[in-house]
Amino acid sequence: MLNKRAIGIFDSGVGGLTVLKEIEKVLPHEDLIYFGDNLRAPYGSRSTEEVLEFSLEIGRLLQGKGAKMLIVACNTATAVSLGELKNKLDIPVVGVIAPGAMEATKLTVNNKIGVFSTPVTAKMNAYKNEIERIDENIEVYQIGCKSLCKMIESEWKDTKENQELIRFYVQKLPAEIDVVVFGCTHYPIIKEYFIRELKGKKIVDTAKETALEVKELLQKLDLLNKRDSKGKISFYTSGNINKFKKIAEKILSRSLDMVKSALN
Ligand code: DGL
Repeated sequence: MLNKRAIGIFDSGVGGLTVLKEIEKVLPHEDLIYFGDNLRAPYGSRSTEEVLEFSLEIGRLLQGKGAKMLIVACNTATAVSLGELKNKLDIPVVGVIAPGAMEATKLTVNNKIGVFSTPVTAKMNAYKNEIERIDENIEVYQIGCKSLCKMIESEWKDTKENQELIRFYVQKLPAEIDVVVFGCTHYPIIKEYFIRELKGKKIVDTAKETALEVKELLQKLDLLNKRDSKGKISFYTSGNINKFKKIAEKILSRSLDMVKSALN
């Protein structure tokens, strides 16, 4: 039965766990298969060709493991590969950019939105294009944050230098911006350090919006798992299993029994 199959979720590393967390809340009865490409992270400093190649490889891997739907829990992979994944895979594919962009347009009063993302997502104007498609009167300021993803992958430290780095990125935004989007799924992991600098601006976490969209789509396609018990989650990484486990347990605030290796 198709609806009993798992939902596949992938990211370049641990960032997509912020999406998995929201999926678990909204769809507790679904089985999930998570893949973190930690070995090849960060995607944000790779070429678009590489990101496309990796995304298709992982998309096929998760489809091969029986996934009934694929969630691209990485903004960079969404910006580069969503169209190709939709074309090449036989299952529905959901990205994280459109849901977050839509929510941001609803929240802005000043019609000025800031987006923090990887340099690739910013360079591709992924959010700017999506937001302007919804409302061309909204101005979008995209800040490509070069080093954050790598620092989060190797565990963020609450140091003065790191806080200054966040301040540096926040200060690039014009003051009139009233809504800020975390256009990288890694950034909600260090949300509290952004909040210190953002001085009351509204924050859009694309993970929540994506989870709601996934639920709606599963309902529409009659693919919801209708059982009453809790779903199972399997974790795969292309990187070091113990390293993944340690950081994933911190993000998910629980211990994980099984993390498997894939792609090597
Ligand atoms: N979580 C990915 C994103 O949302 C990070 C990309 C990277 O690995 O640089 O873009």
